[in-house]
Amino acid sequence: MPKVILITGASSGIGIVTAEFLTENNFKVYGTSRNPSKDSLNGVHFVQLDLNDSNSIEKAVDKIITNEGKIDVLINNAGVGITGPIEETPIKAARAHFQTNFFGVMELTQRVLPLMRNQNEGQIINVTSIAGYMGLPFRGYYSASKSALITLTEALRLELKNTNIKVSCLAPGDFATNIASGRFTVEANPKSNYFKAYSASLKLMNAHVDEAENPIEVAQTIFRIIQKEKPKAHYKVGSPLQKFSVFLKGILPDKVFENMLAKHYKL
Ligand SMILES: NC(=O)c1ccc[n+]([C@@H]2O[C@H](COP(=O)([O-])OP(=O)(O)OC[C@H]3O[C@@H](n4cnc5c(N)ncnc54)[C@H](OP(=O)(O)O)[C@@H]3O)[C@@H](O)[C@H]2O)c1
Repeated sequence: MPKVILITGASSGIGIVTAEFLTENNFKVYGTSRNPSKDSLNGVHFVQLDLNDSNSIEKAVDKIITNEGKIDVLINNAGVGITGPIEETPIKAARAHFQTNFFGVMELTQRVLPLMRNQNEGQIINVTSIAGYMGLPFRGYYSASKSALITLTEALRLELKNTNIKVSCLAPGDFATNIASGRFTVEANPKSNYFKAYSASLKLMNAHVDEAENPIEVAQTIFRIIQKEKPKAHYKVGSPLQKFSVFLKGILPDKVFENMLAKHYKL
């Protein structure tokens, strides 16, 4: 019987490419969208799920359990972006961001974990970001929501140490998806103290996503993590420079690393 996979945010970007890749590799894949256009597409079965709606989280999980009786792998992929100076980002927008990228993800995880306990096995892969390993300027809330997911993944691994439930996080660098069009963007305000630096950073961020690679590499990495007997806590996928930046942060004096980032973002 094929492994049953639940992957959130399968209507676009990393999610759709991964859902289709895993389907091609003989997994039974349930993908989610807030508004699925079809029940199934290219072999991926779709269920409605909004991470901001507890009822829809419950219903999505129940539907898969009714159909399949189990969920072997949960891939918490759905997520959104947010950009803006920390000082000028409405707190309401920051809260909404954390709701989707963090609390909603954990609510779904809490729903699925008891099922995995009953099955006596399971796997959870949280899609985080290289940006979660460092505080990036004008993406502070995004860095923070992904950092929160990374540390929670570490804690959950320890809490589940004596079970057959494996937990990992996978941090992508930049990949060409719809993330830029879906994100909450504080408009650059010519009257703001941050106008020049923020406008330049926005251009840089958009260029990074536009010039980035197709996310098939992320799908292949997720596939490899699913095959592992003992998956690691942290995986990274992206350009060598983006992956190397996390390593550099670990070994360089804080000041040197901070200056490197400031230079990159022309601050
Ligand atoms: N692209 C990158 O460069 C990059 C880099 C690092 C990390 N990531 C992470 O990778 C993951 C996937 O992003 P992506 O780049 O593939 O972006 P994307 O193309 O914008 O896809 C985002 C997915 O999330 C779903 N989604 C958004 N809000 C949701 C909500 N409230 N409830 C449930 N689902 C929701 C969307 O589905 P519907 O709109 O159909 O509901 C969509 O399928 C995210 O966690 C992102 O932070 C991306």
